[in-house]
Amino acid sequence: MNTRPMRVEDVDAVLVIERLSFPLPWSRESFIREIREIDNSRLLVVTEDEEAGADLMGYACWWEVVDECHITNFAVAPAHRRKGVADVLLGRILEDAKGRGLLRATLEVRLGNAAAIALYEKWGFTAAAMRRRYYPDNSEDALVMWKEKI
Ligand SMILES: CC(C)(COP(=O)(O)OP(=O)(O)OC[C@H]1O[C@@H](n2cnc3c(N)ncnc32)[C@H](O)[C@@H]1OP(=O)(O)O)[C@@H](O)C(=O)NCCC(=O)NCCS
Repeated sequence: MNTRPMRVEDVDAVLVIERLSFPLPWSRESFIREIREIDNSRLLVVTEDEEAGADLMGYACWWEVVDECHITNFAVAPAHRRKGVADVLLGRILEDAKGRGLLRATLEVRLGNAAAIALYEKWGFTAAAMRRRYYPDNSEDALVMWKEKI
């Protein structure tokens, strides 16, 4: 597997995965704004190999906020799940964040998203707080997780 920064040309493939993965998907404009305009936004994709046009298996977005890494979006294509793609992506985010001198990492996850919670726990994130009825589509609670030392 290969990781590299997300480009505007990736957004069509990213949107397919995004819409299959989330009830409230980000829009095309949101991804393009993150790539082009938000200075502290980092976006990564995982592809099968380094060839141009290689199948896009997953992606993630995170923000550098002072000395913290805030993971804002994270998904793997349904056809590529349970093959270690998320492990590669999260490992790469934390490596990049550490390389930039960041100290801690955080994210929000739906309380019912057992797969994602298991992933983050595997990588040392722990539940720190709950945001009640956070998601407007079904009023699901959000679990706020932190990894205290990257
Ligand atoms: C959560 C998600 C990113 C996991 O991606 P993945 O590539 O399938 O995960 P991996 O194969 O790399 O698995 C890594 C770890 O995640 C956990 N995990 C992944 N899928 C799981 C599942 N269905 N059930 C339980 N644990 C799971 C396990 O701890 C696993 O480690 P293990 O293989 O040693 O048991 C993927 O299911 C997804 O994209 N879901 C929809 C979008 C989403 O929920 N994103 C997170 C938003 S906060």
